[in-house]
Amino acid sequence: MATPRLKYLSLGVLVFQTTSLVLIMRYSRTLQAEGPRYLASSAVVVAEVMKILICLLLVFKEHSYSVRALNSILRQEIAYKPVETLKLAIPSGIYTLQNNLLYVALSNLDAATYQVTYQLKILTTALFSVSMLGRRLGVYQWLSLLILMAGVALVQWPSESSVTSEKEAAVSPGSQFVGVTSVLVACCSSGFAGVYFEKILKESKQSVWIRNIQLGMFGLVFGLAGMLCFDGDKVMESGMFQGYNEVTWTVVTLQALGGLVIAAVIKYADNILKGFATSLSIILSTLISYFWLQDFEPTGVFFSGAILVIAATFLYGYEGKAAPNPSRA
Ligand code: C5P
Repeated sequence: MATPRLKYLSLGVLVFQTTSLVLIMRYSRTLQAEGPRYLASSAVVVAEVMKILICLLLVFKEHSYSVRALNSILRQEIAYKPVETLKLAIPSGIYTLQNNLLYVALSNLDAATYQVTYQLKILTTALFSVSMLGRRLGVYQWLSLLILMAGVALVQWPSESSVTSEKEAAVSPGSQFVGVTSVLVACCSSGFAGVYFEKILKESKQSVWIRNIQLGMFGLVFGLAGMLCFDGDKVMESGMFQGYNEVTWTVVTLQALGGLVIAAVIKYADNILKGFATSLSIILSTLISYFWLQDFEPTGVFFSGAILVIAATFLYGYEGKAAPNPSRA
């Protein structure tokens, strides 16, 4: 069976994609900006369009590049199954809300607090996997999740210099509360939407790419509504592609590919393993940032955290082998 290979391949690609996205976003911030900044709401819309186009291409390839077959499968699976299609409006709406909540969170919290708190989604994901998918986790797996969270918190623990600079620009207690509440709600929505999408994927034989087209269609509608709502005047004035440059296009493309890789990971592995992959990529991007961008000095706390994350990854996989999961496809 090709599935175990696809499982590790998709997880590996996710580590690579998350790491390069973080690095390129960090790099883009160091560039001197000319003219207006690009609109985040427009980037969301463009990423959705890219995802839909790539998925259409993959379905086209699955059907031996026949336009007739593509047309017929889209009609059969999307247009003639409105109830199945509507099911995807739920995760899509939740993801749109989540992306906006994370924006609110980042405007009210420093980046380190935001990232450490957002790691709680690993636990909410595990809880939703247990309650919605009936997944059984052994003692070692629960333990590994706690070790993972502790490790990620240590890796992202602000160093002394960053504490002073970030807390200087600090936020009032009121906005801190708004920020933390937004992240906590996003942790719940991330866990729920991810597991809901996993349930839909694993309960039917439907192609993951068709499912993603359905998800993307709603994402596009919600994204367009968000863009017109929040940035309607700016779009009317200077168009939706204002401020785009090569780096913007690279970021948007990596984000679109990220959505596709996440879908593949949810299909071939699961949401909990996705949490492990993104945790590993936090370590990787921080190390590359040290060696390549030279804007980070690893501390003892960082290394202890990194060791905990790697140990947790092995501990989780160890019991996964000992007691294969019945709900896994
Ligand atoms: O933080 P979290 O892991 O929940 O983020 C998942 C991200 O992946 C969301 O921004 C969501 O829009 C995106 N996604 C996607 N396609 C999927 C599943 C998630 O684009 N099939």
